[in-house]
Amino acid sequence: MNEGIRKGLVIAAFGMLVVSNHVVYAKQASEVRVTEVTTQTVNAQPGSTEATTQTVNAQPGSTEATTQTVNAQPDSTEVMTTETATANQQIAQEKPGTPVVTGEYNRKKVQLTWEVVDKAQIYYIFKKNAEGKFIKIAETDQTCYKDKAVEKGNDYYYKVRAVYQGTDRLIKGNRSKVCKVAVDNIDPNKKMVALTFDDGPGKYTKTIVDCLKENDAKATFFVVGRSVNANPGAVRYAYKAGCEIGSHSYNHSNLANLSAKDVKKEMSDTDKLIKKITGSKATLMRPPYGSIGDITKKNVGKPMILWSIDTLDWKTRDTKKTIDAVMKNVKDGDIVLMHDIHEPTKDAALQIIPKLKKQGYQLVTVSELAKYRGYNLEKGVSYRTMYKKK
Ligand code: NI
Repeated sequence: MNEGIRKGLVIAAFGMLVVSNHVVYAKQASEVRVTEVTTQTVNAQPGSTEATTQTVNAQPGSTEATTQTVNAQPDSTEVMTTETATANQQIAQEKPGTPVVTGEYNRKKVQLTWEVVDKAQIYYIFKKNAEGKFIKIAETDQTCYKDKAVEKGNDYYYKVRAVYQGTDRLIKGNRSKVCKVAVDNIDPNKKMVALTFDDGPGKYTKTIVDCLKENDAKATFFVVGRSVNANPGAVRYAYKAGCEIGSHSYNHSNLANLSAKDVKKEMSDTDKLIKKITGSKATLMRPPYGSIGDITKKNVGKPMILWSIDTLDWKTRDTKKTIDAVMKNVKDGDIVLMHDIHEPTKDAALQIIPKLKKQGYQLVTVSELAKYRGYNLEKGVSYRTMYKKK
């Protein structure tokens, strides 16, 4: 029995055969029926750990050859041939286009979509794993892919590459840019509030994050660059717990008094540190003292997030007063200002977080609040609340 047929039969025996023009995908039998397979070839290349492409002609009756999970393999094992410079040149000309991928979470799945790209026969789907590597998880001949292997409260990252079968080898296009999909567990119809903590990280940050985690809650930490430098671990801890890391400048400077150049430097110095931890610059910033001038607006380069509830925790240093400031005033869409560098604030937060949950509030990040309240945040514009729009 030749290798191709053997493999085909092995797959068929598991009832997981999907067929398209040139490629076989493993597929759940319930979704796809294949009545007959007429020809098969397998390109098992030297050095590849497993045959990744197979050719089969399908009978009518095989429905919607869509997507399917293949054995996840590092991209490197896809390399199938040793190419000469001439061949490379030829491939460059023949290469399929690069998909532009968008994704969203809907009905317990991440749905990725893209437009058809030139010359594509199939698309490889890559997903970032826990080690930060993009691993191929599926192939499809459609321009969409549904990933059910997602859990609420996490972010997922994907890339897609177009591929087609050339005369003697697979021709692969470039991978798309990363498509990030946040899978949250927020109900847009329920109350939500954004707790924000400024001036950290500090020695109480982790304790507050632990309380957030216990309560399935998130907050936004507007961090001061120089403190991030001193305590990057606390910022990493908050970020990994799903909290948002915003910028509160590098030196906690009054930005309204600074030149354009200095405003930019306050932001870029902090962004560099945040990027090292989270992989990207801060999306949002909070101006120290809430102080904003015209030069700030033009040069800050991020939406400026103010607050609708000022706990005055930095002034009172009183746990009960801080709790009361929140619990007696809070309403749907509020942004609450606190400071995670003070012990009475930490003690207050440990009570405020479960109390708000008990009252039915979803504790969300500022970006989540904006998203679910339909606020399209703009650079250089300040926001105090994100109440439901009428
Ligand atoms: Ni501050």
